[in-house]
Amino acid sequence: MGRKPVIVANWKMYMSHKGALETLSALKQLLKKEDIDSDIIICPSFPSLRDSLRKLARDTKIQLGGQGIHWEEKGSWTGAVSVLQIKPFVEWCIVGHSESRQLRQESDDQVRSQANLLLNHDITPIVCIGETASERMADQTKAKITQQVHSLFKEMPLTQVPKIVVTYEPIWAISANEPTELPDPGEIAAVMLLIRKLIAEKFGVETAERLRVLYGGSVTATNIASYMAEPGIDGVMVGSASLQPAKFVSIIKTVQQAGL
Ligand code: PGA
Repeated sequence: MGRKPVIVANWKMYMSHKGALETLSALKQLLKKEDIDSDIIICPSFPSLRDSLRKLARDTKIQLGGQGIHWEEKGSWTGAVSVLQIKPFVEWCIVGHSESRQLRQESDDQVRSQANLLLNHDITPIVCIGETASERMADQTKAKITQQVHSLFKEMPLTQVPKIVVTYEPIWAISANEPTELPDPGEIAAVMLLIRKLIAEKFGVETAERLRVLYGGSVTATNIASYMAEPGIDGVMVGSASLQPAKFVSIIKTVQQAGL
């Protein structure tokens, strides 16, 4: 279907400012020799965005993303960051990550508002959805994904739908949650199919086929090939394994070789 792969490095709060800039330089260097035909998005912490953009200079292989925004454009929100404040630096932004849903008690409605705000400002929302360990145990994965997808795309104009990137991240599979097992690649592919089916039901098959859907949760240079062997996975969001440039580049290459 010709969807361009997306590989997102979610650096969370792992790096110092200096570390972020050094890692970015190393990545830039490693990618110099590579043919890149995917969207590679690096998401450093907010205070590093400005200098990261400078560091990239005219590099066109790497794009920058933010790690969440407030659902209001501005106002009396101590400690929050507005879309207007990140707009000069980013083309992408993660929203609805389970860690920020927890930290700020964000609801599905607020995540939708964030996605719409980003779209209004021509920034691509990378929206995370996924079930908790207990929801999985209770066989509620399908119900949770359905509810989150319905909420996210509620009243969305058809033309905006393919501009969103959805990331399926089972919360229990995120490395920081110390998973005792990882999802079977087939299990992930089934959720991807469900997401696309829900979009097709609401907006039609053609629109659903244009939507890019990623997987996230303990992706490494070792297990990436098994995920990319499944149909319908358009890329990945990578946390801890994205902190090491060589490993991250190896993930990028495997995604590209999968030739979506
Ligand atoms: P992980 O993080 O790759 O370290 O599991 C993924 C994420 O939380 O986005």
